[in-house]
Amino acid sequence: MLLGAIPAAQGGTAGAGALRDLASQCAIWIGPAVAYGPLLGEPPYADTLGREFSILTPENDMKWAPIHPQQFVYSFDRADALVSFAGKNGMTVHGHTFVWHNQVPAWLASGSFTRDEMIDILRDHIYTVAGRYSGSIAAWDVVNEAVNDDGSLRNTLWFSRIGPEYLDLAFQFAGDADPNARLVYNDYGAEVINAKSNGIYDLVSGLLARGVPIHGLGFQLHITTGGIDLQSFAQNMQRFADLSLELYITELDVRMQLPVTPERLAAQANVYAGILGACLAQPACKAFQMWGFTDAHSWVPSFFPGFGAALIFDEMYQPKPAYDALAQGLGQCATATANSVFRSKASATAQ
Ligand code: G3I
Repeated sequence: MLLGAIPAAQGGTAGAGALRDLASQCAIWIGPAVAYGPLLGEPPYADTLGREFSILTPENDMKWAPIHPQQFVYSFDRADALVSFAGKNGMTVHGHTFVWHNQVPAWLASGSFTRDEMIDILRDHIYTVAGRYSGSIAAWDVVNEAVNDDGSLRNTLWFSRIGPEYLDLAFQFAGDADPNARLVYNDYGAEVINAKSNGIYDLVSGLLARGVPIHGLGFQLHITTGGIDLQSFAQNMQRFADLSLELYITELDVRMQLPVTPERLAAQANVYAGILGACLAQPACKAFQMWGFTDAHSWVPSFFPGFGAALIFDEMYQPKPAYDALAQGLGQCATATANSVFRSKASATAQ
């Protein structure tokens, strides 16, 4: 597929009351992970995406296996199309991801490369991909899920072949290739204060102390209608903000046991509202990003049998109670001008 084959969303700019307009009043980006197939083939997908959101994350198309399938072959068509769609619709892009232990191409996983060769491969990959999209990307997930639940470093391809220095190198390479992008460490299960978030705190503190360019921390938030401990989430966000890091909610989805019921939809809306409230109360929180937006396209049902309906539009692209909860929460920024919390958010830089 050629660059630019996906048109701008019908209807052009967002109408009043779209989430992106409300979010801009709160000085945060709002948006989903995006899949190429439905963007190309389902008009309501592109229309909803372009109307409602200000940032998108390629769900798979910038990962190693899709974008760098053979050692000397890159495949940019899908990522180009998503970046082009974002540009045409006044959206920015959150790049995902340079270093991860999943979706690694076979040539890399099974290759017998020396440590120096692995560093050269990592450098070339980051320079090539980050360089190509420099100027179009607000933030990059430079390293994804490098920490175990006990806080130790995960024994990945990168760890075993390069050593723990791979983290410093990845961020340095990304900073060289795109000096204007925010460089983010992204992980799951580290939203509250626990052994994993303690390990990540130590990791990023070390990176900062060594002068490595890291600007943000991503909280994935793949959670259930049971929610999370919001007080602990707020405390956790604050300690990372105190390191002068920006904070990103990167992959929020709130799965429910199926079938869908009104009670479960209400519980889900409450969880979405709680996470948004925590972001709006924290000046360092720059983005509220979800891992998809329509229940027609979500990773959840195939990974969690019996669960689903995790997003804010249903399978027919109709807004769910969770959508209304977000609109209501974001709407407070426009009306609460006397509130110092919202004033401090509105003076932040994210737009
Ligand atoms: O593209 C191939 C296709 O060619 C093939 O025919 C088909 C057969 O199974 O597989 C397709 O690839 C799938 C890919 O999604 C694209 O649809 C993979 O099998 C499947 O494993 C892959 O799942 C992705 C998963 O990451 C991989 O671990 C999900 O879509 C994606 O939502 C998920 O995203 C991750 C984030 O990157 C990191 N955080 C957690 C999050 C959820 O797991």
